[in-house]
Amino acid sequence: FEFSTGSNEIELGSYDCYMMKEIEEQPAVMRKIVSAYTTENGQVAIDERIISSLLASDRIYIIACGTSWHAGLIGKNLLEKLAEIPTEVHLSSEFGYHTPLLSEKPFFIYLSQSGETADSRQVLVQTNKWAYPSLTITNVLGSTLSREASFTLPLYAGPEIAVASTKAYTAQIAVLSILASVVGRAKKIMAAETFDVASELSLAAHQMDTLLTKQGKYQDLVEKMLKQTRNAFFIGRGADYSVSLEGALKLKEISYLQCEGFASGELKHGTIALIEERTPVFALITGQSTHLQTRSNLKEVESRGAATCAIVMEDLAQEGDDIILPKVHELFTPLMSVLPTQLIAYYTALMKGNNVDKPRNLAKSVTVE
Ligand code: G6P
Repeated sequence: FEFSTGSNEIELGSYDCYMMKEIEEQPAVMRKIVSAYTTENGQVAIDERIISSLLASDRIYIIACGTSWHAGLIGKNLLEKLAEIPTEVHLSSEFGYHTPLLSEKPFFIYLSQSGETADSRQVLVQTNKWAYPSLTITNVLGSTLSREASFTLPLYAGPEIAVASTKAYTAQIAVLSILASVVGRAKKIMAAETFDVASELSLAAHQMDTLLTKQGKYQDLVEKMLKQTRNAFFIGRGADYSVSLEGALKLKEISYLQCEGFASGELKHGTIALIEERTPVFALITGQSTHLQTRSNLKEVESRGAATCAIVMEDLAQEGDDIILPKVHELFTPLMSVLPTQLIAYYTALMKGNNVDKPRNLAKSVTVE
């Protein structure tokens, strides 16, 4: 698409590109999801048939690609903690041809912004043949994956135009959290009964707004850390590790830097050999049980010359941390920590003069295997 055409100008408003518009829409998307999934009695709810089907299953298989796969990793944590259903997350392109041994009563969740990804569809065709129940969580109602699955839940993120996905990722986490919490409450799981998903999501929306108003430092940060480099690392543990993978993908997609997301404890088992003077390392530190370990990993790379940036949850912050994330419920830290990674990717692409919305070699929706 071209930005100069009339309709795009209207859609873009004061924005120069869709990616920034979509990044900034995320708090509104969170609010939209809360209201769309809240019924007249003020409670969040999900179609009863989906809940019964999940209650009858013994294991969830999340099938997805790219950014949606990364959202699936966060979804696994939510489903296991709140609903206590064992959950596996698989890449569609791997699952289809190297199917793992399945449980007796599997339930498949297809996560897909577009609902058209061929790799995921090929798995759905197969699980439909086996007559396993399936749920597509998508931004596009009426898309192929939505039509062919047993059930659909909408993301309500609004059209996502930029190739690099942002608001669909956070929307997927939000919808999965509602699903996990409704199932968990039906099972009377304590973690779900004490978790008010609607108000925690609303708080997250508010805190996302706060974080997104502070974009002043990113231009300098990327000039300092990423201007003279060919590579970069994102590190973290647990959910921070999952978000590191997404942060690295975002940076690869639009800045063309070679970038990896790593479990910070794994660095010492090989990857630390890549650290040289000024190698950029971004650390995500939001986990109550692992923040000290990740900090010491950050020290290890710093002492080998790395240029570091600590992205830290407010209550774990220390003097000198670079980006402080306003506090949210521990299950929702990914909704916050992903935002700086999106902004880092955006400002780096801008600095390099790349086409932010339409990066080379990539398509928004991939309809070939
Ligand atoms: C493409 C896009 C990615 C996206 C992936 C999965 O590769 O460039 O941004 O994450 O497809 O897309 P889906 O629509 O299935 O979420």
